[in-house]
Amino acid sequence: MASKIYEWLDSRLKLTPLENSLLNEPIPGGASWIYVFGSATLFLFVLQAITGMFLAVYYAPTPDHAYDSIRFIETQVAFGAFVRGLHHWGASAMVTAIGLHMLQVFLYGAYNPPREALWMVGVVLFLITLGFAFTGYLLPWDQNAYWATQVGINMVGTVPVVGDLLVRLLRAGETLGALTLSRFFAVHVLFLPATLALLIMLHLFILRRVGPAGPWRGGRERRTSGESGAGREATAGPGVVERRVRGSETFYPRQVFMDAVVMLGLFFIVAALALTVSFPLTDKADPSDTSFVPVPEWYFLFYYQLLKYVHGPLEPLATWILPGLFFLVLLFWPFLDRNPARHPMARPIALASGAGFLVIVFVLLGISLRDLYAVPRLDPAVAQGKAIYTQFGCAGCHRVHGVGGAVGPDLSYVGDTRPDRDWHSRHFRDPQSVAPGSIMPKFPLNDQQIGDLTSYVLTLKKPT
Ligand code: HEC
Repeated sequence: MASKIYEWLDSRLKLTPLENSLLNEPIPGGASWIYVFGSATLFLFVLQAITGMFLAVYYAPTPDHAYDSIRFIETQVAFGAFVRGLHHWGASAMVTAIGLHMLQVFLYGAYNPPREALWMVGVVLFLITLGFAFTGYLLPWDQNAYWATQVGINMVGTVPVVGDLLVRLLRAGETLGALTLSRFFAVHVLFLPATLALLIMLHLFILRRVGPAGPWRGGRERRTSGESGAGREATAGPGVVERRVRGSETFYPRQVFMDAVVMLGLFFIVAALALTVSFPLTDKADPSDTSFVPVPEWYFLFYYQLLKYVHGPLEPLATWILPGLFFLVLLFWPFLDRNPARHPMARPIALASGAGFLVIVFVLLGISLRDLYAVPRLDPAVAQGKAIYTQFGCAGCHRVHGVGGAVGPDLSYVGDTRPDRDWHSRHFRDPQSVAPGSIMPKFPLNDQQIGDLTSYVLTLKKPT
């Protein structure tokens, strides 16, 4: 039955040549699990596109409604939290997959001639993926989104000559506001997807024309085709696809199978993360609260750490000189690395630069994570004070990082604004004595409890 339908379609649509170019492409050296990262990235992009379309059904790109629309998706929409989770973790997975894909290509020297253009289009695809991450981060319009984007835009502003223009282009106004949000939204859901889709096609088109590089052992045989043009290749006929490669195997079925297994596995991992790990919104964006310290996505953390080390005149080094140089070197790497060898051991400079870069990234990431999650050893007095805070219902009037009422002042950073221990003791003993007319009740607390409560409120500070 199925073959009847296929025959019928084939007689009309002439599918056989398509089948040849899509499925029967030879893979030199045969199928391998190491080649799955490209298709994995493509799969994750499709997942992002689909989940993004569903999120766009409810999302409203205005400062008044963006935050609440995300809240609505999270709490009211059927499967809303799940779809948003897929989109959130899918983004992380896509950055990881593209990173691994580039690492594999780099390690295998697969960017060597004749695949320079394939590599360069790939680098642009990577940049666009980072563009997705940057523009997508602002959309929830919470404090973190707002202030992280502010940091990013300020960095762009340090680029000489064109910095101001770029900032105006990104922000569309004097401040980060409604125009910025709709602009980021349009770029995130229209401009970038269209560009990415076109470039993926170009990437795959080039791949099909030059063919996959194959394992580094088979490298010598392959490379003779473009360069010397002489020898065995000359007798093999004109067609690139005809070329016989030892141990070659077609894309279908084994590579297709491996790719499919990885895609399915990835979907389960991303879905499991979406169902189990939450990533709560911070407070709604408050442009007047300049004290908020944003934290970027984990894949930007190493860079965030680097930024902490440079100040004053050195700042441009981290904000644009190093990133600019990095992407230029990455883009033109096939021309900078003139070594025609494929085996990593025969390419010590490439191997050392790649490894050096990774070491720096992971060391910075490690330091950053340690700083972020270093739980300061909790002083028992502080723990006790925190318990009293809960027990006496202080949250009924006070807010700490978005939790609690708004009758009294926000206490999120009271340790910074009021560092005086003595003031707090007297205030807790009798609020009216230091704040005449205060409606804060006089709680029945003993000296020990007042001490503990004071120790706790003094810990409410901005992270340093
Ligand atoms: C009925 C509402 C209410 C309750 C309950 C309440 N507070 Fe207050 N609190 C206020 C008000 C109003 C002020 C501002 C006037 C003042 O300083 O007393 C204030 C001020 C403060 C301040 C000084 C903040 C600043 O920046 O000056 C601290 C610290 C504080 N409260 C801690 C607490 C703690 C701890 C508890 C629980 C034991 C608590 N409050 C319970 C209403 C309340």
